[in-house]
Order: sequence, then structure tokens, then C-alpha cells
Amino acid sequence: MAYNLLKGKKGIIFGALNENSIAWKVAIKAYEEGAEIVLTNTEVAMRMGEIKELAKATNATVIPADATNYEDLENLVGKSMEVFGGKFDFILHSIGMSPNVRKGKSYDDLNYNYLQKTLDISALSFHKIMQVARKMDAVNCWGSIVALSYVAAQRTLYGYNDMADAKALLESIARSFGYIYGRDKKVRVNTISQSPTLTTAGSGIRGFDNLVDFSERTSPLGNADADECADYCITLFSDLTKKVTMQNLFHDGGFSSMGMSYRAMKQYNKSFDCDNELDGLDEIPKEW
Ligand SMILES: NC(=O)c1ccc[n+]([C@@H]2O[C@H](COP(=O)([O-])OP(=O)(O)OC[C@H]3O[C@@H](n4cnc5c(N)ncnc54)[C@H](O)[C@@H]3O)[C@@H](O)[C@H]2O)c1
Repeated sequence: MAYNLLKGKKGIIFGALNENSIAWKVAIKAYEEGAEIVLTNTEVAMRMGEIKELAKATNATVIPADATNYEDLENLVGKSMEVFGGKFDFILHSIGMSPNVRKGKSYDDLNYNYLQKTLDISALSFHKIMQVARKMDAVNCWGSIVALSYVAAQRTLYGYNDMADAKALLESIARSFGYIYGRDKKVRVNTISQSPTLTTAGSGIRGFDNLVDFSERTSPLGNADADECADYCITLFSDLTKKVTMQNLFHDGGFSSMGMSYRAMKQYNKSFDCDNELDGLDEIPKEW
């Protein structure tokens, strides 16, 4: 059900590769909520993915850009302003990639050239996008910029590798740039820390299925899926959240505030074998 939350608003969405992508779902919902959008991704991703199909469904213009390339970003922002007939209102940064993860390098055996690429693609690109947009005065007052993060920025999760460092940097950039952009132009900048989600980027992480299962058992509300993440993005692009800025907003069913849940503990049945009071936990209903 649509609420016209983005009626009259215009924005650029980075990172829709295929229909599993979080950015894909955001594009569909933004369009349904009345927004006009420009879709962007790398040339390679456009060849591999199905962005043209999405563009057709959302009446969007597609403009390629490598988010690590400053000139590409200037071209993207300039052309988007031509398409929109002026400034726009929101940007979604939904970009992540680690060559170390892709090539199976573990965190204690990182390739540092790869690490620089991880940071450039997954975090510095966010700074570059905002620097270009601000210098070109491309975003309207009370505009909203959102990037997607993960709780590995705060806590160590096996297998997340150098993407954890990239997410910590991404969240820091949101705060530092959020101060400047808010002060000068009333533009807000936030990150959404999303549950593990079955997408191309997500499934590259070692042991990803187990991570999904663990957070599902740990989160009282269960994992948030890509559609739910898109809903949250829409609220942040809407005028209902005008004073929310410089925040890392957890959208994870409560995972980030949990330590151990009953459902997760049940997985470790061996600890209940000994003669102790925890044995009684078996009698607690499963849905706990
Ligand atoms: N899937 C998860 O479990 C999960 C959880 C929390 C946060 N996130 C974050 O959500 C975001 C979107 O990822 P997703 O899960 O939808 O996966 P996805 O693979 O569908 O999206 C990643 C996108 O990044 C794009 N990209 C890579 N390099 C780029 C570059 N140089 N320039 C421009 N675009 C580039 C890819 O083409 C792709 O479209 C990422 O930041 C990811 O880290 C994902």
C-alpha cells in the first residue's frame, strides 16, 4: 500500500544489480510512493544485472557511474539535474564489495591493495558522492542521504572480514559529513544498519547462511528482509524524518541489543546436558 510519502521528490539510487538487491526494492517503493528516480551502477554491473528492466518498471533514467570515480560522479550528478530539471531530494548509497572476501583472503592475511579497494568502493565512495553533490549544490534543503551498513562496524562477526572496517568508516563519514551538510544546507545524512539479507553481496560472506540463521534466532522480531529495509529507507527520504541526521539506525529486529536469546541457546544443547538449572529451559515454548 502506497502513502504518497515521496510525492514530488526526486532522487538517485545507487546499487540495484538484480531483483534481490536492496536498492532494487527501494527503487520500486520510491516509485510507488511518487518519486522520480535516476538509477545508477557500474557499466559492468549493468551488463551483468537487469537494471534496464527495473528502469522500465519505475520509469527511471539510467546513468552509469563507478562510484569510486570522481569524474563519473560529477557526470552522474550533472546529468541527473538535467533529467530532473534542477536539484533533487534524496540519494541512496547501496554499494559494497570486498576483493579480499571475493578471493577468500582471511582477515589475518589481507591483501592491502584489495583492502584499499574495499574501502574505496564500500566507504569512500559515500564521501565522494556527497562531496560532488554538495559542491554542485545538487540537493534541495531538507534533502536526505542514506547509506546501508551492517552491525559488524561495532561487533566482530566471523567472516565479515575487511567489510567490517569499511562499514565503520562508512558510519563515521555519515556523522562527519552529516554535520557539514546539515549545518550548511539542512541536508540529513544517516546509515541504516540492516540485518543479513540474501543478496549477491550478502551471499559472498563466508558462512552467510549460518549468520542469517544466528541473527534470526537472536532477534526478537526476526531478521528484517530487503522489502522491510526499503520501507525504512522510504521513511528516511520522506518529510516525516526531517530532524533525523548523523545516526546509524539499526534495522535488525533487535539483534544489535541482544546478547543471547533462548532460541539461540537451544542450538547449544550440550550445555544443558549437565545437571544445572538451565535444563528447565527445554520446557519453555519454542517461540521464545
Ligand atoms: N545483504 C546483506 O546481508 C547486507 C546487510 C547489511 C548491509 N548491506 C549493504 O547493503 C548494500 C547493498 O548490498 P546488497 O546486499 O543489496 O547487495 P548487491 O550485491 O545487490 O548490491 C551491491 C551493489 O554495489 C554495486 N557496486 C559495487 N562496486 C561498485 C562501484 N565501484 N560503483 C558503483 N556501484 C558498485 C554493485 O554493482 C551492486 O549493485 C551494501 O552496502 C551492503 O554492504 C547488505
